[in-house]
Amino acid sequence: MAFLADALSRVKPSATIAVSQKARELKAKGKDVISLGAGEPDFDTPENIKKAAIDAITRGETKYTPVSGIPELRKAIAAKFKRENGLDYTPEQTIVGTGGKQILFNALMATLNPGDEVIIPAPYWVSYPEIVALCGATPVTVETTMDNQFKLQAADLEAAITPKTKWLILNMPSNPTGAAYSESEIKALTDVLLKHPQVWILTDDMYEHLVYGEFKFMTPAQVEPKLYDRTLTMNGVSKAYSMTGWRIGYAAGPLELIKAMDMVQGQQTSGASSISQWAAVEALNGPQDFIETNKAIFQGRRDLVVSMLNQANGISCPTPEGAFYVYPSCAGLIGKTTPSGKVIETDEDFVSELLEAEGVAVVHGSAFGLGPNFRISYATSEALLEEACIRIQRFCASLR
Ligand SMILES: Cc1ncc(COP(=O)(O)O)c(C=O)c1O
Repeated sequence: MAFLADALSRVKPSATIAVSQKARELKAKGKDVISLGAGEPDFDTPENIKKAAIDAITRGETKYTPVSGIPELRKAIAAKFKRENGLDYTPEQTIVGTGGKQILFNALMATLNPGDEVIIPAPYWVSYPEIVALCGATPVTVETTMDNQFKLQAADLEAAITPKTKWLILNMPSNPTGAAYSESEIKALTDVLLKHPQVWILTDDMYEHLVYGEFKFMTPAQVEPKLYDRTLTMNGVSKAYSMTGWRIGYAAGPLELIKAMDMVQGQQTSGASSISQWAAVEALNGPQDFIETNKAIFQGRRDLVVSMLNQANGISCPTPEGAFYVYPSCAGLIGKTTPSGKVIETDEDFVSELLEAEGVAVVHGSAFGLGPNFRISYATSEALLEEACIRIQRFCASLR
């Protein structure tokens, strides 16, 4: 439609939302569908956090807040970065947005000009390249490999940097692969960036608290303090505290950048929901044992899913360090034929035939920029995951 902005032609709708929608439609028609597409914890928000929100309403905390967030929350964010990441930020160096997504959007909006490049390792969270494109800049995707656990390699980063590179976006643990970088793996990348002073790091630490076993989470500004002045460390309460619907994300970084993001947000949504901000104060300052309890549950589910998928013909599934996703390869099934005579040519064919035949909804890897793979979100009950994996095994066994 000629009336619509040119920028829209550069953007694709979210494949993950599309899969959830298709699964809902099939369910509505009476099909028995197990949806493993959604990127949100299945747990409820903890009671103490809900109560903090109710108390905020009762106290009348229902008015506009400062654009960057209520002072209590910015203080709690600065304290969180010190306590959990060893990072020194003043409350003025923090900003609260309506979800992590808005933080990303505002950071990119505040910094990108047409022609600027943003390096995004693939597979990536679907929104990164689209937000960069909406800001009129150029996403530069750099493919990783399953052999390297889907982690960006220093030499590939070096080769992708040009004089126009403005940001490197890192996301660990990753959506969609669950991969998280160790301290030395981060150091290899920050060493490259030390040589290129024009490149900043936008690190999306949304899944920080969901790492399993002995893995120790580290964030780039902590690993390489020399990059502190060009790192925006983004995080939020959505995943760790089961608060996806409350829409609170936050970041900390150099004051000038935070002020620029404040300006963008001030002409857009202003402050995030006052009630949600008070809930987030309780999330960050209150008891944290909920996180450990959920981590143990997620780890059990991860191990179940990885083990059952690796028993499916033609599927190979690495064990990721964190998040609640696995990203198995279906390369072994490309070229095979379903009982109804359809040839599986791509990972998109694989997921659509799987949904048709067995009612299991997963997201194709090409939507995340690297295939042939698919993403499973294991943020659902063990019983449903087991049933889904049995169906996947049966589907794979049916291919010839
Ligand atoms: C990697 C990553 N970053 C950011 C977000 C957005 O988080 P929020 O719901 O707080 O906007 C998500 C949500 O799916 C995500 O997976």
